[in-house]
Amino acid sequence: MAANIIDGKKLSKDIRNNVKERVASYKEKYDKVPHLVVVLVGDNPASVSYVTRKKRDCERAGMKSTIIRKDTSITEEELVALIEELNDDKDVHGLLVQLPLPDHIDKNLVIRTIRKDKDVDGFHPLNIAAIHTGEKGIVPATPKGVMTMIENAGIDVTGMDALVIGTSNIAGKPIGMLLVDAKATVTYAHSKTRDLKKHAQEADLIVSAAGVVNLVTADMVKDGVIIIDVGINRVEGKLVGDVDYEGLLDKASHITPVPGGVGPMTIASLLENTLECFEDLEGIRE
Ligand code: GUN
Repeated sequence: MAANIIDGKKLSKDIRNNVKERVASYKEKYDKVPHLVVVLVGDNPASVSYVTRKKRDCERAGMKSTIIRKDTSITEEELVALIEELNDDKDVHGLLVQLPLPDHIDKNLVIRTIRKDKDVDGFHPLNIAAIHTGEKGIVPATPKGVMTMIENAGIDVTGMDALVIGTSNIAGKPIGMLLVDAKATVTYAHSKTRDLKKHAQEADLIVSAAGVVNLVTADMVKDGVIIIDVGINRVEGKLVGDVDYEGLLDKASHITPVPGGVGPMTIASLLENTLECFEDLEGIRE
């Protein structure tokens, strides 16, 4: 059986076009557009590249985006004061601080300072809690993108045995919780899991967000398994995921490629979150 390839690039484009249409309509009706502010401390090349892409994609969708760059000499107090100022700025609808931050700044304090209804990353403890309680909150971009891909592929996870590999706060943990909410039976695996293969063999759906090359291979899974690969690893300059994509093409029923899978969905979800923050803060929704 040849797997259905879930094309994240195409789906991301459709979502970004939908966001663009909604933004244009709000602009025409209310003469306002969503504004995303990204705070970048230091000049980590990967971070510079991520924030540049976020700004570019916002602007392509008709939204306003500003990058505020600060030197690594900024103090925790100064960064907190900057966030508080942006929290109160009515012209700012979405706010994120690019991670990682320098060691002298408490990342958790910074995340907690961001107003929860401008927290487009969905990292604020109250937004994380909302996933667990089922309250309305902002869902982090990668988990949101994963769930959109699953739904868009016409997959109903009800009753499925799902294995989530990786327990980070921004990917594995919330993805597992969203799958529980969608009525899957979820197992979490991580670096201390004794027998990954045993769990993988029982799974109908595997989401790998571990950041380990070749972690999931064809011999570990059952026929017809659904594979969502959240891994982003670099091997000899090439981007690869966590799963043996080629090896699984004949065994899985659905699979996401890397690149062109979950990655593009993350940015599409960030734009959706920015638009939703704008709608809530401005009190408008079509
Ligand atoms: N660093 C790597 N990924 C992310 C992300 O999604 N959000 C933020 N704020 N920083 C990151």
